[in-house]
Amino acid sequence: MRKICVIGTGYVGLVTGTCFADLGNLVTCVDIKEEKITKLKAGEMPIYEPGLEEMVRRNTQAGRLRFTTSYEEGLKDAEFVFIAVNTPMGSEGEADLSYVRSAAQLIAEVMDHPLIIVNKSTVPIGTGDWVAEIISRHQPQPIEFAVVSNPEFLREGSAVHDFMYPDRIVLGSLNREAAEKVAQLYLSLRAPIMITDLRTAEMIKYASNAYLANRISFINEIASICEALGADVKEVAVGMGYDKRIGSSFLEAGVGYGGSCFPKDVSALAHMASIHGCHPQLLRTVMEINRDQRRRVIQKLRDLLGTLDCKTIGVLGLAFKPNTDDMREAPSVEIIHLLQNEGAHIQAYDPVAMDRARQILSGVIFCKDAYEVAQGCDALLIVTEWNEFKHLDMGWIKQAMRQPILIDGRNIYDPETMKALGFVYRGVGRGY
Ligand code: UDX
Ligand code: UDX
Repeated sequence: MRKICVIGTGYVGLVTGTCFADLGNLVTCVDIKEEKITKLKAGEMPIYEPGLEEMVRRNTQAGRLRFTTSYEEGLKDAEFVFIAVNTPMGSEGEADLSYVRSAAQLIAEVMDHPLIIVNKSTVPIGTGDWVAEIISRHQPQPIEFAVVSNPEFLREGSAVHDFMYPDRIVLGSLNREAAEKVAQLYLSLRAPIMITDLRTAEMIKYASNAYLANRISFINEIASICEALGADVKEVAVGMGYDKRIGSSFLEAGVGYGGSCFPKDVSALAHMASIHGCHPQLLRTVMEINRDQRRRVIQKLRDLLGTLDCKTIGVLGLAFKPNTDDMREAPSVEIIHLLQNEGAHIQAYDPVAMDRARQILSGVIFCKDAYEVAQGCDALLIVTEWNEFKHLDMGWIKQAMRQPILIDGRNIYDPETMKALGFVYRGVGRGY
């Protein structure tokens, strides 16, 4: 039984720690937030992630998973310590490493035996070397350690599945032996394991996320051209996806990507590139197209409603994607702000993100379900494609609205069916 400590019990750390426990390791999760740890000890989840609660309960009961705010307790006898604290976007678009720095310092101050320190958080290229430097500088006396980069590729909403069935495990280190020891932790998952140097592993994470964001902006640009020329981007994407060189995933046009990763990672990569003398033109365009996707929604509403002043707009879906309560960089936030700036009244609903949304959005009427949102609306806007929105009684919804305008920001409805029901329907990239 390997002993692992995970620092940070957020979307990534909690899933990582719990899954490692499920694989038979002894895991202690550390977080600086007292109330989070108290909740977790009581079996309450601080985040919504399908399948996680049951897995936490099972592994806690089996004695393989523990929670604490104490680094001393977390690091006691641990062989590995995973750093999974957040690395948010800084004011210049760079990654803010202050939490990684503080985690590294605390590890250094507390460690009393050799450790393998694994960076899970997405960190700029070169951070592994910097973490090693911090640890060496803050150790009261020199104790052996190695730093390994092991980027996460977990999608919120399917993070437990993604951990258990990874496409690949990437490990980067200057210390091959340490990387091989980390590889042992993943052997039972039977995934391809790639060992590289530190910087290459760090870059694989950024390049992967930037490429996926690039595909989304690409299909969103094609969607805009489809709208102008009368083609249907949904079918275009299907037709493209049959080509094995292209593949069908991440070609869904919509209101643009959000979340805790793509926006900050594309921005951080562009920032890194530009301060090192490169010109990240493609990355900048990827971000620009993404911003425009939000604005195009407002434009469509203006085209149909004229002024938005005092109009009531219903918003379905607030989380940045389905099956999560995460509101970080959610398209809904920017869209709602833009609408409110034009004087519109907003009524909204999300199946799980309402509590988080209330903390971020002001002046919004939060409704109990999609039907309540529709009441008296001048237009209904789909921002997040939750399954429950795909099977609504749209006839009822149309009756409840003041004007039957449906802006489908995720292309979940069939345009012909909606038109037959009497809606004025606008999807994304669906020629009409
Ligand atoms: C992760 C990654 O770590 C980030 O780099 C990646 O790109 C996106 O996902 P995430 O798990 O989503 O971050 O962050 P969050 O849910 O905010 O969780 C971070 C946790 O670390 C929080 O619970 C916070 O309290 C904790 N934390 C933060 C510490 O325990 N110590 C600190 O010093 C800072
Ligand atoms: C992402 C990465 O996929 C994952 O590997 C990890 O590095 C963390 O970041 P996540 O942000 O949880 O995962 O969600 P993801 O499913 O990748 O979606 C990100 C955003 O892109 C969402 O806002 C989603 O709505 C949007 N998206 C995704 C599209 O607009 N179109 C698509 O075809 C796919």
